Amino acid sequence: MNDAFGRLDPHREIADIDRRIFGGFVEHLGRHIYDGIHEPAHESADADGFRRDVIDLVAELGVSTIRYPGGNFVSGYRWEDGIGPVDQRPRRLDLAWHSTETNEVGLHEFQSWLDRVDSELMLAVNLGTRGTQEALDLLEYANASADTDWTRQRVANGRPDPFGVKMWCLGNEMDGPWQLGHRGADDYGKLAARTAKAMRMIDPGIELVVCGSSAHGMPTFGSWERTVLEHTFDDVDFISCHSYYQEHSGDAQEFLASGVDMATFIEEVVAIADSVAATRKSDKRIMISFDEWNVWYLHREDGTQSGEELKDKGWPVAPRLLEDQYHALDAVVFGDLLITLLQHADRVRSASLAQLVNVIAPIMTEPGGPAWRQTTFFPFSITSRLAGDRAVQVPISGGTFTSARFGEVAAVNAVATIDEDGVSLFVVNRSTTDATQLRVDLATLVATFGRALRVTESHLLHEDDIYAANTLQNPERVGVRPADATLADTELSLELPAVSWAAIRLS
Ligand code: AHR
Repeated sequence: MNDAFGRLDPHREIADIDRRIFGGFVEHLGRHIYDGIHEPAHESADADGFRRDVIDLVAELGVSTIRYPGGNFVSGYRWEDGIGPVDQRPRRLDLAWHSTETNEVGLHEFQSWLDRVDSELMLAVNLGTRGTQEALDLLEYANASADTDWTRQRVANGRPDPFGVKMWCLGNEMDGPWQLGHRGADDYGKLAARTAKAMRMIDPGIELVVCGSSAHGMPTFGSWERTVLEHTFDDVDFISCHSYYQEHSGDAQEFLASGVDMATFIEEVVAIADSVAATRKSDKRIMISFDEWNVWYLHREDGTQSGEELKDKGWPVAPRLLEDQYHALDAVVFGDLLITLLQHADRVRSASLAQLVNVIAPIMTEPGGPAWRQTTFFPFSITSRLAGDRAVQVPISGGTFTSARFGEVAAVNAVATIDEDGVSLFVVNRSTTDATQLRVDLATLVATFGRALRVTESHLLHEDDIYAANTLQNPERVGVRPADATLADTELSLELPAVSWAAIRLS
């Protein structure tokens, strides 16, 4: 057993937490919408065809904002296809996912589902096959209150009040060669700036996200951010980061260092954004919308990419796509990614777990059958529920391991959040070999609170079989159990098995 020591001092505040850091992402992709959240024939479906069992699980997950409708899908999407009488909506080819889009669910239906799960809409506009005018049309339709042709259509379609969508993404992954309408940073930066300026003429109160890199490892990473921000700095509020992680060749230890990559990615984008600010002598700070993050087995060991299987199978409606099954190890890495986002809460003011249901998702469903929680559900729901108002650093000294990519990496990583009623600690043991006894000094914290604290909740996610997963046949194989946590005087003691994630609530 290794020893590790930490200090939880409320004076080491990182920032207040923007709840949008606990956002999600729903794309028209595979069985996410159809046969996922929307299955009219399912026994739990409500009058609008939405599965109530899924609604309950999404609400339990605690997702603040939800980015919609894509993803790669949005770069070929005509948003008008999704409004008006459902039986008159066109069926279209979805080039991104080689599927047929029925358009049974569009803006109005999705908003009504969001009302049920108590989440806020974040919209992406198509800057792939379309441009500024179509983005303006959608914004006018969604947010304008003047009497116009678009707003009359909105009213006729059952929505007298504007949707009032606050956050808008200026396209999706425009740096990616796979993206419909992919273009260079200079072209995209000019288009994004033009579109942003025009959108603000309709609604100056919106917040705009410009596309950053679709992965930290993109060949254009860095120069893309710089060029795009040089064009759009005055017009946008956020730049996006996207990142997916997976275990390669059975190297669990290297996979467990994924949080280091995410931290570096964030810090490098912040440095670039602030250097663009410096050259303009501006004190404006561009924030990060980490609007796609997750574990995703994108690259298979045979070299193919997940999703490629569709290309020879015609144009199916709602095919099974990207239905990754997550194991305990994935959930520990995932918990560490959430810790990493909170450690950067000063600049990561919005993030979207990609995605929510069936497609690289914490929630799975079977048509006509049950819905269940994947292993990754637990770190998200617990962190979202327990996270307080402010994020606080928890420096830890203890064991390390050697990563091929990152050198010496701390085995234990943690962050805390504080609110009026207490403190939540989120911690991960990334070591594949060594359990750790973590002791955290709470003296300053207790003095600041002016009263004794006690452990009111503790959760440990750990499996001796790190590849254990929840499946249709065994949906509750992996879950959380109480952690071995004790508070004596002003010291918290917590036992962390190798490859584990824990959350402790002190009130
Ligand atoms: O989340 C799946 C896909 O990953 C999204 O459509 C795209 O934006 C990213 O490449």
